[in-house]
Amino acid sequence: MHEVAAGQVPVEGGLAEVEVLLGGVDDVLADLSPERRELFALRVERWWPDLRAGLAAVHDPGTAAVLEQRLLRAAATAYAEREPELHRLDQARTLRPDWFQEPGMLGYAAYTERYAGTLAGVHGRLDHLRELGVTYLHLMPVLQPREGDSDGGYAVADYRAVRSDLGDVEDLRELARALRAQGTSLVLDLVLNHVAREHEWARRAREGDPRYRAYFHVHPDREQPDAYERTLPEVFPDFAPGNFTWDDELDGWVWTTFNSFQWDVDWSNPDVLVEYAEVVLFLANLGVEVLRLDAIAFIWKRLGTDCQNQPEVHSLTQVLRALARVACPAVLLKAEAIVSPHQLVQYLGQGEHHGRVSDLAYHNTLMVQFWSMVASQDVRLAAQALGALPAAPSSAAWITYVRCHDDIGWAITDEDAAAVGLDGYQHRSFLSDWFSGAFGGSPARGLVFQENPATGDRRISGSAAALTGLVAAQDDGAGPGDPRVDAAVARVLLGHALVMGWGGVPVLWMGDELGLRGDDAWASEPGHESDNRWAHRPWMDEAALGARHDGTTVPGRLFAGVRHLAGVRASLPHLHASVASEVLEVHDPGVLAVLRRHPVGDLLALYNATQDWRSYPGWRLEELGLGGAHDALTGAPVHRGDDGNVWLAPWSAAWLRMP
Ligand code: GLC
Repeated sequence: MHEVAAGQVPVEGGLAEVEVLLGGVDDVLADLSPERRELFALRVERWWPDLRAGLAAVHDPGTAAVLEQRLLRAAATAYAEREPELHRLDQARTLRPDWFQEPGMLGYAAYTERYAGTLAGVHGRLDHLRELGVTYLHLMPVLQPREGDSDGGYAVADYRAVRSDLGDVEDLRELARALRAQGTSLVLDLVLNHVAREHEWARRAREGDPRYRAYFHVHPDREQPDAYERTLPEVFPDFAPGNFTWDDELDGWVWTTFNSFQWDVDWSNPDVLVEYAEVVLFLANLGVEVLRLDAIAFIWKRLGTDCQNQPEVHSLTQVLRALARVACPAVLLKAEAIVSPHQLVQYLGQGEHHGRVSDLAYHNTLMVQFWSMVASQDVRLAAQALGALPAAPSSAAWITYVRCHDDIGWAITDEDAAAVGLDGYQHRSFLSDWFSGAFGGSPARGLVFQENPATGDRRISGSAAALTGLVAAQDDGAGPGDPRVDAAVARVLLGHALVMGWGGVPVLWMGDELGLRGDDAWASEPGHESDNRWAHRPWMDEAALGARHDGTTVPGRLFAGVRHLAGVRASLPHLHASVASEVLEVHDPGVLAVLRRHPVGDLLALYNATQDWRSYPGWRLEELGLGGAHDALTGAPVHRGDDGNVWLAPWSAAWLRMP
């Protein structure tokens, strides 16, 4: 009998039952060497219980049993077809299961056409990535989208084809290979909550094929949609209000959480699960190493709820995770769940799902709190909100980031705000005013995204340069040495220090490492006019990129600064993602203190989120056993004032550890 953790459904007869299971896919595995067949069997024995438990939580036993066979066949087929080089990667990763938690990990995210024109063009950017130390490249949607507005490619028309203006599937495979050769993992989106209205499944549904109609949530009249709408929020209240769209050809209302052309698929349909399982395996065999599960929070619908974060979401993720572990264990799943702080950590595996779902998830709370502390020059809310979050499981990692290609929503709970004497609504309102530049004295130049009159909610678009005041200073004619420019540069670097010092995989969003202002002409691109997220999705500025080694320029200062942070980070074992970040008590309301206790020694990170010199008490440093600490960022002993305290320059960071 094998020992089984709670929540697992064992492969009851152990190896004997695995043999029976594998008997069903003999034809697929027949040509493999005995060693390769044995390895597959071992993986099935190890991971099938996770898959079973996931299925059992969602489907009745009969459906689950059939699904299991179909998924096993898909996994065996992909395994048999996987290239030797990828099998080798699977083995290497199995020997180094914490590869993505190591402090040397650094991500970069870009739209291919904006970064390099085409997939082939990305080869010409490998130097840029290498200089930064990038080990993870997220190219935003590259699979064939619908024509016209496709929500930046997040309306996929074909999961097995590449956007024709970017190249083809072979270019993708080639790029994955080239990246892998320099130790960089290719990360792609797996948009699994919806497909484009033009996807074959949707087309066949519109043609009246009942099999495909059942892939979607279609209602003949408003009764059910109205019932759901009572508790559903709106993602794009401005340009895509409501969650259902009438379609004449379907002769029904189809669920469309995002845009009207993005049809939500029905994950309670077992065929849908098998379809996506096959897409996962297809992308894995192209050499994709991380799949970003786009909008994963939304895939399960339940009447009377907001239809996000339902328990089935985690069970289904567990099925996909187990499947990948059997067929292509080098592949990781990353949850894109931009949800409230207490829901967030579920995506890294809590309770019965611990260690069995996504390995990575976006640390939305850290991102939001960075901007909040910079605007208010007060870290108390950040300390409260970050301190209240449960630690990520030690086998997982956060994706940390200063901002991304999407808008920033103020995911700050009323409870956290109240705990530090703030009114949640007013603080969120202040942040929108501040970052749109409406608040007196604010140097930020962001844009309001999706103002929702019903809730008062206003999200914000903007590049790091726009949100930190760099754009405003430059528009005022401020030159490189102007104090407003200095302050903005310092704020950009402070944000990057925070996300690099947190532990996890920090991801840079294209252009922020050079201070690109964004795309002022965003609205002139057809289909983009109502979606100002395009304002912070700029085209690469060749002049700025060319100036990256010139320390007298803003791009050069930022590039050097970001590179320095990444280099220091890579040398600090304390930043391994398995170690938790502990937010310490606040002494000066402008200074955030984060401790990481690692067996090699402790690391204390300090962040001054104000325009003044601020201090951290010397006695506290002694108490922590860090009296003689050096700042890893300067490489020098920590600077203590006459009062014995550690003094931090405006908008600066220090990472303290004993030499
Ligand atoms: C994710 C993407 C976003 C897109 C949405 C719908 O949140 O990041 O850009 O609009 O999913 O696919």
